[in-house]
Amino acid sequence: MLIVGNQKNYMTTKDVKEYLSEMMGLHNVVICPSNIFIPYYLKRGIHVGIQNIISTDQVVTGEITAKQARSMGIEFTIIGHSERRENYNEDIASAVNDAINNKLNVILCIGENIDDYNDKATNKKLKKQISELINIVSLENVIIAYEPVWAIGTGKTPTNEEIEKNVEYIKRLVKELYGIDVKVLYGGSVNKNNIETLKEIPNVDGFLIGKASTNITEFKKIIEVVND
Ligand code: PGA
Repeated sequence: MLIVGNQKNYMTTKDVKEYLSEMMGLHNVVICPSNIFIPYYLKRGIHVGIQNIISTDQVVTGEITAKQARSMGIEFTIIGHSERRENYNEDIASAVNDAINNKLNVILCIGENIDDYNDKATNKKLKKQISELINIVSLENVIIAYEPVWAIGTGKTPTNEEIEKNVEYIKRLVKELYGIDVKVLYGGSVNKNNIETLKEIPNVDGFLIGKASTNITEFKKIIEVVND
């Protein structure tokens, strides 16, 4: 099981210092801090990811490329998070290609909006997002995070059956279209109270955790439950 913490822009320097002082004992997790705090997290026995990259052929104030991330020793990148998809019209396929070419592991987020939250529309949305990968050099280092947009930061989650069905669909489609077995994480309001239930879903390969990953006690508890 892979556990990824997406700390978004929740933390201040003080929060990060406290977090780091309690981080020992965390292994085999990926933490994606705010960019400014990344150096604090490197060489601490965890894997470090970046929350987004843009493709290298663009010059954009305030952004970071795969090449820069890799040169810092970052191993993972999230791409296509719904908060980015909503606000920035990013070229996701180019960013994924760039990440792969720079040897970053990609966590590609896909998921339906509340308006697409019914079997047919959800499948259609997932298919559209998966089809964007058609020109990717290799999907070997790509992990998909299935994150229903309506579940992110809302405290709401789909039922285990719904998650299982959609993860099954994603895996089947990726196999059909690209011939590979992709790993799929679930993300959206995962916390210490629902992790016992969510970890029972048989085909989920891990979790992408936002808010709950910023509280080190809660995050450790979640990791403990998942690894139990
Ligand atoms: P959340 O965020 O766990 O706070 O819902 C998940 C995410 O955005 O990746």
